[in-house]
Amino acid sequence: MPVITFANTKGGAGKTTAVLLLSTELARMGHRVTILDADPQHWISRWHELSGHIPNLSVISHVTSSSLEAHIRENKANTDCFIIDMPGTRSPLLTMALGISDHVVIPIQGCAMDARGGAQVLELIEFLTEKTGRKINHSVVLTRVNAMITTRSLLLVKGLLATKNVRVLDTAIAERAAYRDIFDYGGTLSGLDPLKVSNLDKAKENAQSLAKEILRLLPVRVVRSVPHVPSILRRKVA
Ligand SMILES: Nc1ncnc2c1ncn2[C@@H]1O[C@H](COP(=O)(O)OP(=O)(O)OP(=O)(O)O)[C@@H](O)[C@H]1O
Ligand SMILES: [Mg+2]
Repeated sequence: MPVITFANTKGGAGKTTAVLLLSTELARMGHRVTILDADPQHWISRWHELSGHIPNLSVISHVTSSSLEAHIRENKANTDCFIIDMPGTRSPLLTMALGISDHVVIPIQGCAMDARGGAQVLELIEFLTEKTGRKINHSVVLTRVNAMITTRSLLLVKGLLATKNVRVLDTAIAERAAYRDIFDYGGTLSGLDPLKVSNLDKAKENAQSLAKEILRLLPVRVVRSVPHVPSILRRKVA
């Protein structure tokens, strides 16, 4: 029942898009996902309302620092993976979410502004690790990457992260029209029409490799837990 938080204090870094891609892909694979929408702008909640029922996926809105832990406690029995969408700001909620996360993903577009917002999250993780002695696993995912060309600013950001020994996911999230369309029309990549959306196959492949790579990084395997049978019932059956 791992908790994954997507955070970057810079707005527009691609957090919500990455949350959507990972959550819908994990749900498609059969994992029960609960998204905790901690952004006061409620983009994920709006997308979910527009989408209607999506198997294996639920969304909890209005998540605050005083409600976060209760949401996790109350939903852990029916959730294989919690995914938190943070707003692009620094707040006590961010500190709390980082502190309870099994993995923090920091989406960064290939530009210096985003890298600075990402660096703030990395500093906060370092501070929390020093204070609590608990290691917080984290990695950067590069977002809105042009699938065809590598820009100079992207190389600069990659170089900067390498000097700081920050893990960068092998899977970068490409700039794709399909990722904007699921926001605008609701639903998932599987529901889009390949005749109307360019490079839909590539967009799906990208989301799949993102989910597979993040699953490999989790300390706890994301699997549906086998229902617990109380020992008294087991004896009766025997
Ligand atoms: N990979 C992508 N391909 C195409 N468009 C993208 C991609 N990633 C993000 N966008 C677009 O960029 C804008 C900002 O993305 P998003 O909302 O995911 O960022 P955010 O970090 O969650 O922003 P905020 O800090 O405001 O919550 C949105 O309009 C989104 O559709
Ligand atoms: Mg967002």
